[in-house]
Amino acid sequence: MHAVDLIRKKREGKRLSRLELEFLVHGYVQGEIPDYQMAAWNMAVYFQGMEPEEITDLTLIMAHSGDTLDLSAIKGSKVDKHSTGGVADTTTLVVAPLVASLGVPVAKMSGRGLGHTGGTVDKLESIPGFRVDLGPSEFVTQVNGIGVSLVGQTGQLAPADKLLYALRDVTATVESIPLIASSIMSKKIAAGADGFVLDVKVGSGAFMKTESDAVELAKTMVQIGTLAKRDTVALVTDMNQPLGRAIGNALEVKEAILTLHGEGSGRLTELCIELAVEMLLLAGMTKDPQAIRSLVELNLKNGEGLRKFEELIEAQGGNSKVVEDLSLLPQAKYTRDVFAPKDGYITDIDPWALGLTAMDLGAGRETKDSPIDLAVGLELQTEVGRYMTENSVLARVYANDPEALVRATASAAAAFTLGERKPVVPPTIYRKITAKDV
Ligand code: URA
Ligand code: CA
Repeated sequence: MHAVDLIRKKREGKRLSRLELEFLVHGYVQGEIPDYQMAAWNMAVYFQGMEPEEITDLTLIMAHSGDTLDLSAIKGSKVDKHSTGGVADTTTLVVAPLVASLGVPVAKMSGRGLGHTGGTVDKLESIPGFRVDLGPSEFVTQVNGIGVSLVGQTGQLAPADKLLYALRDVTATVESIPLIASSIMSKKIAAGADGFVLDVKVGSGAFMKTESDAVELAKTMVQIGTLAKRDTVALVTDMNQPLGRAIGNALEVKEAILTLHGEGSGRLTELCIELAVEMLLLAGMTKDPQAIRSLVELNLKNGEGLRKFEELIEAQGGNSKVVEDLSLLPQAKYTRDVFAPKDGYITDIDPWALGLTAMDLGAGRETKDSPIDLAVGLELQTEVGRYMTENSVLARVYANDPEALVRATASAAAAFTLGERKPVVPPTIYRKITAKDV
């Protein structure tokens, strides 16, 4: 087999066999196929696409290119959740304990943040003492004990994806639905769950800018999951404005705690409930979504979800008193409010701009080794569709550096658009994609 023939074959729009894909991916990982050939093949995929079985073959080859997690020692059906990346999206911190509080195990490995969307692992590290570096056996033992564990990535999951993603990043081939879908699903499959609930974001703050692209990505991932014998569903959800109110690590932990106290914002709470319902349905709790939704809502109201979060923090060495005393979280030195420049309806809140503002404050990483400041970020005080009077507060900036505070106040203000007409507010959830839809 020769790489040049496989590039030509894809250039002509033909399907590659599993053996051919193995030749390419293994050859690339082993350094036998050079970057320029792999890049040419990626570009051919960008223009010609791939067939569902072909994408699934690629996904499984990448999933098995390194370590894979074995969760079989955990009793019950393990369902993982994945978001394609949003701003003010702290759903994992709410959904994981909520689902576990209803008796379904959650064994979740999360990444650190890169760029303007925060990573779950960074957020958890803002809880004093919290350890994200449990070994595999400690992780499994904890899930069997209290039903939930949230840890950082260990081992080398899907190293082929890591190499390919870095190559795509510098060859203008990230924006290919088969390549994005296989990249995400390879890492999820390597992390060992039996089923997946995918949160595919759409809008100005997301990878996918249009609903039709987001639906296509969602369908492609559901198809891969199904062909790979994992129960998979996707929700296509809005990222035309930030999901919740907080952007920044400790601030998002605070928002998660408030949400588990039943005091979260409407949109974040709505999505957390839906994601929890989908996870519990996939885990086979019952077949009745209404009954499950009532139980999820109950455990948000009666504090059972919060109690589970407290147990999780304690089990991983953190100070669980944070759930009742938010001042135990890292606090920024300076705060400043962003005011409405005039009366009017909020017609747009640009999530991308606010994500970059939080990053400039130090809440996110520019490269994978940059340090982050857990205390800084933004808290929104409004949402799209709300009427604001001149000088009312749109957002609060939290900073540890006076110059960054000034910069962030100006750039946050520019992220809000006010107008005279009440805008149409996008729904939080656009649609659900199941195996039946693909
Ligand atoms: N996220 C991933 O993990 N992979 C992609 O290709 C795009 C987004
Ligand atoms: Ca917007």
